[in-house]
Amino acid sequence: MNEPRIALWPPMVSTRERLRITEAVAHLRRRGNGSMLGEYVPVVDRSVTMTTYGKGAFELAVVDAGLSGTRMIFPAFISHDYVGVLQKYDITPVFVDVEPDTFHLATGSCNEELLESASSLVLLHTFGLPADGAGFRDLCDRHGLYLMEDCARALGARTPGGLVGIHGDYSAFSLSKIAPVRRGGLLVSRRPIADELPKGRAGISGVVNQLFLLKVPGLKVLEGPLYRLLRETQVYPGEIGLYEPPDLEAPEPLVEFFLEAFVPHYGRVLESKRATAVAIREKLEPLGFEFQRDPGNHIYTALGAKVPPAVDRRGLRDHLHKRAINSYTLWGDPLGTSALAAAAWGTDPTKFPVAAELAERLIHFPIGRFITDGEVDRLVAACREYVAGGAGG
Ligand SMILES: Cc1ncc(COP(=O)(O)O)c(C=O)c1O
Repeated sequence: MNEPRIALWPPMVSTRERLRITEAVAHLRRRGNGSMLGEYVPVVDRSVTMTTYGKGAFELAVVDAGLSGTRMIFPAFISHDYVGVLQKYDITPVFVDVEPDTFHLATGSCNEELLESASSLVLLHTFGLPADGAGFRDLCDRHGLYLMEDCARALGARTPGGLVGIHGDYSAFSLSKIAPVRRGGLLVSRRPIADELPKGRAGISGVVNQLFLLKVPGLKVLEGPLYRLLRETQVYPGEIGLYEPPDLEAPEPLVEFFLEAFVPHYGRVLESKRATAVAIREKLEPLGFEFQRDPGNHIYTALGAKVPPAVDRRGLRDHLHKRAINSYTLWGDPLGTSALAAAAWGTDPTKFPVAAELAERLIHFPIGRFITDGEVDRLVAACREYVAGGAGG
């Protein structure tokens, strides 16, 4: 994908999570006190297996449940991350459109025939908004389906029924989406996963990539230039192994260290990200941006909005990038409406109008705990300027 070039100045506003040096030092001092991940992941009566990617967690679930050669119900609005695993195990995804306000799989579109023909259903807690896990548990029980929760961007999100991941037979998390780790995944399962995974290895570029996720005081000014220089290289790679399942391994010690050092701060991180997201949406909604529904429990791992109907999304993204604001789009080519799905599984892309509209209109704004009020104002002013047509594209 052809990304617009981010400006070198002012300092970049981005979503990437970082670990403060002070947090790393504090963790060195308290080492051995164990991980607090259990506060955010449903661990009671469950097994937890750490992997190097969310994709690996999903693959472990597929193998454990014996889903080779079966049909799996998927929301049409989802990334391509599982394609490699689906092809490796000859699984046919059958897509269902999503709800226009929550972007969650639309239960009303799951007809009897579909439910009876499949062996499992993937419930995605899109962008950190918890879906109705209890409702889908019930639906899956009635039709003998395995419930696979995709909590890739939802670690720590809750409903009154509990943490996301509590209802699934298997629940997969991606740690690089929520923590300052270059890679990491986690599977919650009802029974222990049989095989112990070998530890992954970082290599030099992996170590450098991981160390970039340290927040060094005073170096914020270098983030934009470094990002421009290193993006999509070995030390700052984009997506890895999208169509080629990565090796099934456990995270390397450096990743474990960053994760454990970060988790004690995660509660506050969630609070500050939510406060920033709410502030941004309050200012952009009057301009015509339409945000995902938020009943109060959205954790905003990603902050997405539909651009106002008359606004050119590509132009707005260029406009923001020229002001060093790193906007992006999840997902410009959702799996359900993709040419890849049509070619591989005979899917009809026209059947999922909601997913298609989201693909056309969504823009994601940077969201992170280090974003300042001044940066929120800068973002809002840039959007206002563009929407008002005063920017010249
Ligand atoms: C919805 C969804 N599921 C699964 C994954 C896979 O996570 P990982 O990149 O850790 O393999 C991603 C990653 O972007 C994702 O967005």
